[in-house]
Amino acid sequence: MSVQKEVKRVTTHVLAEMKLHGEKISMLTAYDYSMAKLVDQAGIDVILVGDSASNVMAGNETTLPITLDQMIYHGKSVVKGVTRALVVVDMPFGSYQGNSLEALSSAIRIMKITHADAVKLEGGKEIIESVERIVLAGIPVMGHLGLMPQSIHKYGTYTVRAKEELEAQKLLEDARLLEQAGCFAIVLEKIPAKLGKQVAEELKIPVIGIGAGGGVDGQVLVIHDMLGLTQEFSPRFLRRYLNLASEIKGAVGNYVADVKSRDFPNEKEQYN
Ligand code: KIV
Repeated sequence: MSVQKEVKRVTTHVLAEMKLHGEKISMLTAYDYSMAKLVDQAGIDVILVGDSASNVMAGNETTLPITLDQMIYHGKSVVKGVTRALVVVDMPFGSYQGNSLEALSSAIRIMKITHADAVKLEGGKEIIESVERIVLAGIPVMGHLGLMPQSIHKYGTYTVRAKEELEAQKLLEDARLLEQAGCFAIVLEKIPAKLGKQVAEELKIPVIGIGAGGGVDGQVLVIHDMLGLTQEFSPRFLRRYLNLASEIKGAVGNYVADVKSRDFPNEKEQYN
């Protein structure tokens, strides 16, 4: 019997148990009530209210413009649709990098208003003091290393990170520091599979990958990508489970045609 099938509510302890039993963790993003409800009902373990909302919901090129208030709005909407999954809200760019007190107050705002279960921050050594302070306040923290989209202007590209030994060593050290600081899990984005496996084997906490290979403890994808709502984005790590973009365009096209031809509404679709 799997750990996750027995639980009514996924907690950080359940995720730790899953790692212990070698059961893979499933995680997807969601940004609104209706989608979160479906994703939860389908049996996902973790829902991430990602700052990728900046891209897929708000149409920005990067994740940088999304604000704390906007993340709180998305987080609050998602939590209302979820009864089982663990809900993690991304702390947006500018809400935690200043200092650890600012980070704590942003995390507290997220938790108080959204009723989510945890927050996620990007970075290693540079943000350790903030992670420690937030964890000390009783707020579960998920780390995020490898490709960190909030630092895109520093790196310049979205290519695979930590291919070179020096960067791989820093990532490994950062992962250790995040575990020591009390993170309950870490996301590794777009790094060599070998390194992902090494981190997952070394750490006791779950390591969840997006483009980090199959040797990690779980996988996360952006829901718009895996459902085929986004069309331009086709990285190697992405598996598309639907082609919703063409389904939606087809349905809308049919609706437009039915309205124009006066086929809709018919007799049964109106009141007497
Ligand atoms: O914001 C996001 O969607 C993320 C995932 C890519 C892990 O951080």
